[in-house]
Amino acid sequence: MRDLRISVTDRCNFRCVYCMPREVFDANHQFLPHSAILSFEEIARLARIFVGLGVQKLRLTGGEPLVRRDLYRLVAMLAELPVEITLTTNGSLLAKQAKALKAAGLHRVTVSLDSLDDATFRAMNDADFPVAKVIDAIEAAAAEGLPVKVNTVVKRGVNDQDIVRMAERWRGTGHVARFIEYMDVGSSNGWRMDDVVPSAEVVKRIAARWPLEPIGANYPGEVAERWRYVDGAGEIGVISSVTQAFCSTCTRMRLSTEGSLFTCLFAQSGHDLKSLVRGGASDEELRNEIAAVWQRRADRYSEIRTEATSRERKVEMSYIGG
Ligand code: GTP
Ligand code: 5AD
Ligand code: SF4
Repeated sequence: MRDLRISVTDRCNFRCVYCMPREVFDANHQFLPHSAILSFEEIARLARIFVGLGVQKLRLTGGEPLVRRDLYRLVAMLAELPVEITLTTNGSLLAKQAKALKAAGLHRVTVSLDSLDDATFRAMNDADFPVAKVIDAIEAAAAEGLPVKVNTVVKRGVNDQDIVRMAERWRGTGHVARFIEYMDVGSSNGWRMDDVVPSAEVVKRIAARWPLEPIGANYPGEVAERWRYVDGAGEIGVISSVTQAFCSTCTRMRLSTEGSLFTCLFAQSGHDLKSLVRGGASDEELRNEIAAVWQRRADRYSEIRTEATSRERKVEMSYIGG
């Protein structure tokens, strides 16, 4: 166990077609009430226990983590721990908060941006959000000294025509462009294998323009496979959960917004920690429970994925945390 991904809210101000399709996450969708979600104090207590069990990186996710009020306060609490603190965000609220997040102790940030073409991006986020504002956020974060990665989920026929342009935009900036294979997370995005652009094709298209060479992982269990431009203009990453599953080296645990522990992004159910926390369990009891869950895990969903499993009921990514 090395990475803990913490979902701080199940809400989001976007409705990305591959994550929270508007037909499903509509005005009638019931989001969690405030009383059901872990407080910052509860999250920080659990995080400390996870760090005692070997976790070295905490990643805040959602939904959109920056819609949770005063998130910088949580960052400040977590920053007391001797681990890396990171954040994955859609960037819509980042420009305003970058300074406070950095001051609170955030180490780096990953911003999602699926296209540089406004019409394509607006169609993908389905919230009429413009590209320029996300780029402003990326620049605001970088100006604060936060290293930035840019995540692009590639969907065939939707934004794959933008791959080379996206690589070009971040070449030479120090930011790392990462291309993610579209996945069958949750059960509402209507995933089909035909919509996936294999990472090998992404690398081939970029390398045809600027030669690339593979480089080693930053840390054991890194999900992105790294490539560097031979001309020295930086690096890109590809995340190939569909065509090259990485379950066998997975070191991640996920804490959902309401305090359930999930051992896999594709899990159908979690392990309730909130009841233990609110029922007065000691740190030692929580530690034993978490260790037992980790030791029992045998997840390998991405290795056994088929069109049929993709239609099974799974927990939504906006709830579990990307
Ligand atoms: P760093 O390596 O620390 O920069 O971060 P990261 O790549 O772990 O974090 P990020 O939030 O950018 O995750 C990138 C994407 O990888 C996620 O959004 C998912 O699409 C995918 N991913 C992360 N963890 C898993 C996992 O356990 N299984 C699968 N299939 N995909 C994952
Ligand atoms: N497939 C691949 N990546 C996804 N993300 C959200 N849904 C999917 C999906 N179905 C990405 C987001 C963000 C990260 C947290 O996960 O775009 O970059
Ligand atoms: Fe929101 Fe991120 Fe999901 Fe898009 S991918 S709907 S920005 S949580």
